[in-house]
Amino acid sequence: MANKLAVLALLVVLCSVVTRQAVGYSYADYPPPGPLPTPSPAPSGNDLAVGFYDRTCPDAEKIVRGVVEEAVKQNPGIGAGLIRMLFHDCFVEGCDASVLLDPTPTNPQPEKLSLPNNPSLRGFEVIDAAKAALEKACPGNVSCADVVAFAARDASFFLSNGRINVRMPAGRRDGSVSVSTSALQSLPRPSFNLTELTASFAAKGLDADDLVVLSGAHSVGRSHCSSFVPDGRLNASTSTMNPALAAAVRPGQPDRDRRPHG
Ligand SMILES: *[C@@H]1O[C@H](CO)[C@@H](O)[C@H](O)[C@H]1NC(C)=O
Ligand SMILES: *[C@@H]1O[C@H](CO)[C@@H](O)[C@H](O)[C@H]1NC(C)=O
Ligand SMILES: *[C@@H]1O[C@H](CO)[C@@H](O)[C@H](O)[C@H]1NC(C)=O
Repeated sequence: MANKLAVLALLVVLCSVVTRQAVGYSYADYPPPGPLPTPSPAPSGNDLAVGFYDRTCPDAEKIVRGVVEEAVKQNPGIGAGLIRMLFHDCFVEGCDASVLLDPTPTNPQPEKLSLPNNPSLRGFEVIDAAKAALEKACPGNVSCADVVAFAARDASFFLSNGRINVRMPAGRRDGSVSVSTSALQSLPRPSFNLTELTASFAAKGLDADDLVVLSGAHSVGRSHCSSFVPDGRLNASTSTMNPALAAAVRPGQPDRDRRPHG
């Protein structure tokens, strides 16, 4: 359990790290929720290993970390985006890099274009740069899914000034299925209440402890008010949010600009 929590703590979930331009990420834009996704099979995890690339691409993790360090130095908000990317990849079709796939004529609506991801998900260029460097060093040996996982781990490392440093198991395989409606159906919505959140985590084999850890890990990044309230205006006097928290996250509050953001 402690192990599981440690890994989840790393998967710091940023439900709503968005760019300034991401006006579309409002929960008022969501269609009515459909049925919960079919529960995922319990992962065996047996095929993943720390040091998975020790023989086939010994510098793999160092290469990804270097690219992420550069990106986070230039814009800490990208680090928050990379952490969120792992969550949004893993919650839909498993951790298989399906979130990276671009639209094609035969699949015009991949996960990338779904409401929870478009236009708010970011850091794709960091993944691309890391993958390009890996292709030079050891062509064809490192999966994109592992790059996404390493990058999220490394973003946590740099954003925490080295305090969070987890040994990330690897050996994920890249998937080829990417459907925007699966993302909409699988990812917990900003409007979800506790019952709905618990159910959406249960459908992924995660329990209430996992939900608490993932929620409590919302400590980096920033979001629009539209992710919290339907009319996009956080009114501390009418909100059901804890008043102290509501006051702290309201735009213009002094601590706002100390957080990594883009
Ligand atoms: C990639 O892995 C294979 C073994 O699966 C190995 O033979 C090859 O040398 C590796 N490539 C590089 C560039 O390390
Ligand atoms: C949570 O939302 C669901 C779906 O809208 C609703 O049926 C349920 O009553 C809500 N539960 C609480 C405790 O508000
Ligand atoms: C917040 O809500 C109260 C009560 O409805 C209202 O009087 C007040 O004007 C609102 N404040 C803002 C900034 O919208």
